[in-house]
Amino acid sequence: MSYISVRHAHKEFINNGAPLTILEDINLDIERGEFICLLGPSGSGKSTLLNAMAGFELISSGSITIDGEPVKAPQLRYVTVFQNYGLLPWRTVESNIALGLESKGVPKSERAAIVDKYVTMVGLGHARHRYPAELSGGMQQRVSIARALAVDPDIIFMDEPLGALDALTRIHLQDEISRICREEGKTVIFVTHDIEEAVVLADRIVLLSANPGRVQTIIPVNIIDRTDRTSASFVNIRNHIFEQFQLAREDKIEFYI
Ligand SMILES: Nc1ncnc2c1ncn2[C@@H]1O[C@H](COP(=O)(O)OP(=O)(O)OP(=O)(O)O)[C@@H](O)[C@H]1O
Ligand SMILES: [Mg+2]
Repeated sequence: MSYISVRHAHKEFINNGAPLTILEDINLDIERGEFICLLGPSGSGKSTLLNAMAGFELISSGSITIDGEPVKAPQLRYVTVFQNYGLLPWRTVESNIALGLESKGVPKSERAAIVDKYVTMVGLGHARHRYPAELSGGMQQRVSIARALAVDPDIIFMDEPLGALDALTRIHLQDEISRICREEGKTVIFVTHDIEEAVVLADRIVLLSANPGRVQTIIPVNIIDRTDRTSASFVNIRNHIFEQFQLAREDKIEFYI
């Protein structure tokens, strides 16, 4: 069995008193050390699927297992970067990054060096003593990424963690996240609706279509130099995904006619 296994996952929410299917028959097999991007339009159920894999939401039917164990609740070995950052407002940048280290029981003497490494990596050394309310959205996002990487988890679930960043910071952090997660052999499930971001980061891209959320196709990304966004292989994959999006849209247009 694969490391993370999603079998016939189905999710319904009650909407105005009637059940509405959000995820329909999702099947995924993810191996240890893989970097997976969930890519799809708004409302295709990316966050719902991610939250179900991370144990924050239960599916209506089907199964999700990690390392052979059914997912029932969030676990300390896995860490989630939420779409809304999830920082504690009464803690400084440094102290937010240290949060997971405290839960994990890392001795105080070791914490400072780890916090320093990650606060520097996300470019917030100068803001380390500030509180979340004193940071921009992009800075808060970077704190939550640093906090997730600092605890050295087995799996990192990330929900659009770079959405609020300017283009240059975003490119820098894409390259850093890709490098660190690959060097350290992390298993990563990363939600995005940005095609280029998925190509830079993913070993495989799971393309979701909307209404209800389904796996439209899974695209392997075999690029040698991921940092070169102009290479022929990069552009080919990007165009291929773009075509898949167009196909999904044309299907819907026919449906409405
Ligand atoms: N708690 C809930 N109750 C009812 N409907 C919900 C709930 N959570 C999500 N939904 C619906 O499920 C669908 C998928 O939502 P989800 O947040 O998973 O999408 P998404 O792909 O992450 O979108 P985005 O890119 O905008 O973040 C949406 O239509 C949303 O309205
Ligand atoms: Mg979402």
